[in-house]
Amino acid sequence: MQKNTLTAWVNGSFLPLELAVVHIEDRGFQFADGVYEVVACVDGVFLDLDAHLARLESSCAAIAIVPPFTRPKMAALVKEIYDRNPFSRAMVYIQVTRGAAPRAHYPATPLTPTVVLTSRVLPQPSTASLEQGYAAITRPDIRWKHCEIKSIALLASIMGKQEAHNAGVDETFWLDQHGHVLEGCSTNVFAVIDDVLVTHPLDHQVLGGITRDLVLRLACSNGVMVSERPWRLDETGLTECMLSSTTNAVMPVCRIDQRLIAGGKPHAVALQLRAWVIAAMESPAS
Ligand code: PDD
Repeated sequence: MQKNTLTAWVNGSFLPLELAVVHIEDRGFQFADGVYEVVACVDGVFLDLDAHLARLESSCAAIAIVPPFTRPKMAALVKEIYDRNPFSRAMVYIQVTRGAAPRAHYPATPLTPTVVLTSRVLPQPSTASLEQGYAAITRPDIRWKHCEIKSIALLASIMGKQEAHNAGVDETFWLDQHGHVLEGCSTNVFAVIDDVLVTHPLDHQVLGGITRDLVLRLACSNGVMVSERPWRLDETGLTECMLSSTTNAVMPVCRIDQRLIAGGKPHAVALQLRAWVIAAMESPAS
């Protein structure tokens, strides 16, 4: 399927992507006043769609946007945008903004939210990335204090990704003032420390990733010990690192700030978790 045949959904209409536009006074454009979701789909089956839609509703609630549709209606729209762009591995993007109005920080009247959906190819990691794992850098967290909201205000994350790109690595991990690893610009982060899968607990400093949740559930149900606690890269007993997201499933991270993790090669826990997550994507009922 060629790029120019993509169909988008904008405020009630399915349109060719190149004709799919929103108003210049949309508050998403002017203030980043909106929220979003990214949902993965393999051969027409969505991974944890309900959890994504629940998180969209809580993101809306957190910034006082009334969800534009009921959950079943939104689920039907997600399925329809996919059906019009039916890639074997797809990612559906949903964005909800407060709507369009003359620019004023506080909107004078309640607005009709702007809703946009697209469905595109879900990127796959390169063979080299799968063999060598990802590389990352760390930086002090410069983001705002509500990272649990899946906001479209992603400037700090863009800057982090630019730094990663300039350093020739895949991701920037944010550190708190004590050196704890919080999450990446668009990913959650885990370590294996003394054979325990460790990740930062859910709070205002991390997004409650749907894949993070799946990883923790799969680990627990398969007998991997799990601990949600603050952790640092210099802890003795740290043998692996990995990241998770809808677009990456699980990927081992084998080089951080030039330091080799796990001898610089993907190791057992990350590879096992990746296999379990991919299996869950391919047959979600199992
Ligand atoms: N990013 N943390 C941050 C800051 C994120 O932006 C994301 C997702 C995650 C992982 O969440 P999930 O497992 O629900 O995808 C964690 C999406 C994929 C994006 O911005 O494209």
